[in-house]
Amino acid sequence: MELPMKRPISGDQRSHYRIEARNLCYKTSESFDGLNWVCGRGGGSSKRGPKFILKNVNCEARAGEITAIAGPSGAGKTTLLEILGGNIPLKKISGQVLVNDQHMLEKMFPRISGYVTQDDALFPFLTVEESLMYSALLRLAGGRKEAESRVRKLMKDLGLEQVAGSRVGGGSNRGISGGERRRVSIGVELVHDPAVIFIDEPTSGLDSVSALHVMSVLRRMVVSQGKTVLLTIHQPGFRILELFDRLILLSSGVVMHNGSLDHLEEMLKLANHQIPHHVNVLEFAIDVVDSLAMHASETFNRLHYLQNRVENQTIRVPRLNKDEEHISYQNSRSKEVVILGQRFFKNTFRTKQLFATRVIQALVAGLVLGTIFFKTGNNNGRTALQTRLGFFAFSLTFLLSSTTEGLPIFLRERMILMRETSRGAYRVSSYVLANTLIFLPFLLMVSLLFAASVYWLVGFKNEVSGFFYFSLVIWMVVLMSNSFVACFSALVPNFITGNSVIAGLMGSFFLFSGYFISKKNIPNYWLFVHYLSLFKYPFECFLINEYGGEQGKGRCIESKEGVCTTYGEMFLRQQGLKESQKWTNLAVMLGFIVGYRILSFVILWYRCNKIRS
Ligand SMILES: Nc1ncnc2c1ncn2[C@@H]1O[C@H](COP(=O)(O)OP(=O)(O)OP(=O)(O)O)[C@@H](O)[C@H]1O
Ligand SMILES: [Mg+2]
Repeated sequence: MELPMKRPISGDQRSHYRIEARNLCYKTSESFDGLNWVCGRGGGSSKRGPKFILKNVNCEARAGEITAIAGPSGAGKTTLLEILGGNIPLKKISGQVLVNDQHMLEKMFPRISGYVTQDDALFPFLTVEESLMYSALLRLAGGRKEAESRVRKLMKDLGLEQVAGSRVGGGSNRGISGGERRRVSIGVELVHDPAVIFIDEPTSGLDSVSALHVMSVLRRMVVSQGKTVLLTIHQPGFRILELFDRLILLSSGVVMHNGSLDHLEEMLKLANHQIPHHVNVLEFAIDVVDSLAMHASETFNRLHYLQNRVENQTIRVPRLNKDEEHISYQNSRSKEVVILGQRFFKNTFRTKQLFATRVIQALVAGLVLGTIFFKTGNNNGRTALQTRLGFFAFSLTFLLSSTTEGLPIFLRERMILMRETSRGAYRVSSYVLANTLIFLPFLLMVSLLFAASVYWLVGFKNEVSGFFYFSLVIWMVVLMSNSFVACFSALVPNFITGNSVIAGLMGSFFLFSGYFISKKNIPNYWLFVHYLSLFKYPFECFLINEYGGEQGKGRCIESKEGVCTTYGEMFLRQQGLKESQKWTNLAVMLGFIVGYRILSFVILWYRCNKIRS
């Protein structure tokens, strides 16, 4: 394979970036106490004191170069990459991060760069081509044609053509190989042709040929387009090592070397190390990194650093202008909603436990419940009333609790959402809107299946309008539950907490619905839960539908010696229900659906914008 080695910086100078760290220090967040700390002091070595992950780091990555951060595991490579990539808020660090000699603009910089994380966060049910395609559609302004040609080129460059139609997979779903998944992750971030690329461990999980292939793709981009590539690496082979222009060797958060491979060799010799034949210089340096600590004094590093800076004066780098500070998206909001909706639809449709299971569950549960409560709707009397109330209560419990299965899917999406929105791929609001819209028809179908199998079997009021109202209430119930889960999945840290919180809240909603304890017996200080209960409103709707209207009003509920003592109308009055609540309750349920979605948007927006990292 012919490897591109020279670096003539050509093309549009505007898109060349030099990234520089000056006296960078970072310590663990638990011990963070504002900027009132001095790097290297404050007990970095003591067991109880704060732990410095990076200490006085000075380094740079230039346009038209590949800069590799190497070092033993836990040296701080990922942390340094995250800081330079704008993933860790600058207020959490001391020192400076400069982009083209200016302070990094935290909001703007991640949008002009691509960041590939150490873990692959991809949709397991999309194919390789689809994953790249959706990324291209969201990040390129030129529409489907441009996206298609870009994806075709990327797949060719990354050697993914063979697996274009295979599902990515992940977790328990077997998909493409780990190395191929790594290349897809890189592709997803390269799709918009960013001027700066950060990659955490680009070659981990790849065999030496694939690793060299990926690195030479990056090398080609650096050479032909003057991109700035910064990556972390473990044990690169000889041929890969030759592709790096600059090496930053880290050990316990301290820079041991910052410069070319030749300089590293010189430094090793200076430290009286004999590099054995056929041993990779970098690997050898990582092995002896601790002994280097004595020789790689601050002055040595600074010497190289200053020397490199002088060299650098010859390459003129443009300053960031005001236009570049302006945050803009590639697509309009409506286009984003359409693209995200399509992607979301594919994911939902292909997630068997969400789609097929939900459909089968609605149908089977409807038929089973229908046969258990068969024709109880036609009977009159107290017992029949109790049976019917029991049916309503159980159906609501079933419908509201069966939506929690969406939680792991929402949580998986949240990770991807945060990655994509932090790089400016689309607006959080578009995501929430697309997510809501896709569930509307899907849950309508689930509701109709359940309602159709249950309504006529149980024998409720024999009116078509009654059936449609019943179906509408069920649709509102599953939508409410879906929005509720979406909201809490945005809030909770993980699946276990999410499940406990949702189950606990659902339980208390059921308890305070008015079915177990009537409203008048609920202590005043607990009454608010009754009004917040997702059970209360649909439960009342079911009663009004059955015992309201012309047919329901005249229905006998209780009779003594052949004389009817309680009619449907009286029963509703006893329960404190009015016919008009049929619609106001639906409006309240709609309010819950919209309210929980708005809340989920606010939480996600806060997560994406305020607490990055
Ligand atoms: N939020 C955190 N809280 C506590 N310790 C942290 C945190 N983030 C990183 N560290 C610690 O900082 C050190 C550097 O972590 P980092 O992930 O940057 O290492 P690395 O060089 O990328 O390692 P690897 O090669 O294994 O990926 C590690 O000792 C890690 O345990
Ligand atoms: Mg790492």
